[in-house]
Amino acid sequence: MMTMSLIWGIVVAVCCCLWLILGIRRRRKGEPPLENGWIPYLGCALRFGANPLEFLRTNQRKHGHVFTCRLMGKYVHFITNPLSYHKVLCHGKYFDWKKFHFTTSAKAFGHRSIDPSDGHTSENINDTFVRTLQGDALNSLTEAMMENLQLIMRPPAPSESQLAAWVTEGMYSFCYRVMFEAGYLTLFGRDLTRQDSRAHMLNNLDNFKQFDKVFPALVAGLPIHLFQMAHRAREELATSLKHEKLRERDRVSELVSLRMLLNDTLSTFNDLEKGKTHLAILWASQANTIPATFWSLFQMIRNPEAMKAATEEVNRTLEKAGQKISLQGKPICLNQMQLNDLPVLDSIIKESLRLSSASLNIRTAKEDFILSIEDGSYNIRKDDIIALYPQLMHLDPDIYPDPLTFKYDRYLDENGKTKTTFYSNGLKLKYYYMPFGSGATICPGRLFAVYEIKQFLILMLSYFELELVESHVKCPPLDQSRAGLGILPPLNDIKFKYKFKH
Ligand code: HEM
Repeated sequence: MMTMSLIWGIVVAVCCCLWLILGIRRRRKGEPPLENGWIPYLGCALRFGANPLEFLRTNQRKHGHVFTCRLMGKYVHFITNPLSYHKVLCHGKYFDWKKFHFTTSAKAFGHRSIDPSDGHTSENINDTFVRTLQGDALNSLTEAMMENLQLIMRPPAPSESQLAAWVTEGMYSFCYRVMFEAGYLTLFGRDLTRQDSRAHMLNNLDNFKQFDKVFPALVAGLPIHLFQMAHRAREELATSLKHEKLRERDRVSELVSLRMLLNDTLSTFNDLEKGKTHLAILWASQANTIPATFWSLFQMIRNPEAMKAATEEVNRTLEKAGQKISLQGKPICLNQMQLNDLPVLDSIIKESLRLSSASLNIRTAKEDFILSIEDGSYNIRKDDIIALYPQLMHLDPDIYPDPLTFKYDRYLDENGKTKTTFYSNGLKLKYYYMPFGSGATICPGRLFAVYEIKQFLILMLSYFELELVESHVKCPPLDQSRAGLGILPPLNDIKFKYKFKH
């Protein structure tokens, strides 16, 4: 027994020595300062994962604006000076931004690679997103979303008692339910064949929550088979998005109809895999929008000045557009131009996203190259990762004084128009607000996302009286377990009351 323990002890010690000698990267001349971490393969991943913001701030204090960390076997160069962001993005020809995205999508959603160079499909998916989520396609998307939101929010034939009663609900659950259903119907259309389409939607909602809960673990590389319930939920969601099911739906969005066509003609995916590529789009369209909607509503309601300014702006806009608020009458309808002219709502949404966003912008180096930025020039090796973590900038007191306080008018100038000038170290910033990413990987659905949240807020203010159950409720903490993925949800829900306005 003793001998076995001794042998194992020696094996472990030899492995550690080998790792120290061979596995650890040594910093070469011209490279950024390096943090290898002490754990083989993981490197600094545990410290980063526990609190990315604090980890990056500590390293920034130690090394300056540019440093390298070993994370999960990869070397990640963090660029933390926002004045350097635009220079980083100028090095596009050295970056492969697809590799990381495609690998992550395949891992999390369970389809084969959607990278055309792997031969399973020849669809240029980024092109599809731009064609169907922006430009003219946005008109029909926003129109459908406004209709669907009202389909869910307005009861078909409300009784007097229904109209007079206050309803108490968790605000996050409410936003989740309403935005999920309206967003799902907008992208994937309405099911005309099912009697139980409402129950089916609730089942989709439960499955989505179940799957989304383990999403950070899947991105970190854990296999879905470790999470039985989430695995079943993913397969059910993908099954309901198979082409045979989608063909039974009416008013499917241009995005999904075009992807059905391209999936059928350009890919070798089987039916379930096609459904899984649609599930990836469902996830992208919901996972950030839902918490972003919650934070916008919550911050607006708990700030009386924000609430007053937003209500006045919405009333003015509806009046100018000749729209009447009526529970039984025609649904409210606003076009893109009218939705664009809402600087107060814009500022409330931006400020809410500034405070809750924690996305990680990643590019992989295609070859060795020199990264020349404001902070100096650095040698970067092939396959290393360049990362921006905009939360550092969003919470920087030099750019945003009193950064943890919600100021509804932070993005308004002295004339009440959208403010676009922000400074770091006395210099004007090109990039000062990045919850949607940047450059080639910027979110293709960002315009639609902001319209959706605005539409939701407009309808909440128009149809309901709104109150927090506890008027001085504390702001819930952010769920840091999702740091890196986008908008962080609240750790706990907040109770609120709503009642139809007569
Ligand atoms: C507040 C809501 C949203 C936020 C904060 C958000 C944020 C982001 C971010 C940070 C990325 C990754 C960018 C990068 O890697 O640098 C992304 C990608 C993406 N988003 Fe959004 N998003 C939102 C809503 C939406 C909506 C509503 C849609 C579609 C209807 C959408 C579709 C996509 C797609 C398809 C991608 C992947 C693009 C690609 O890999 O080429 N997003 N989003």
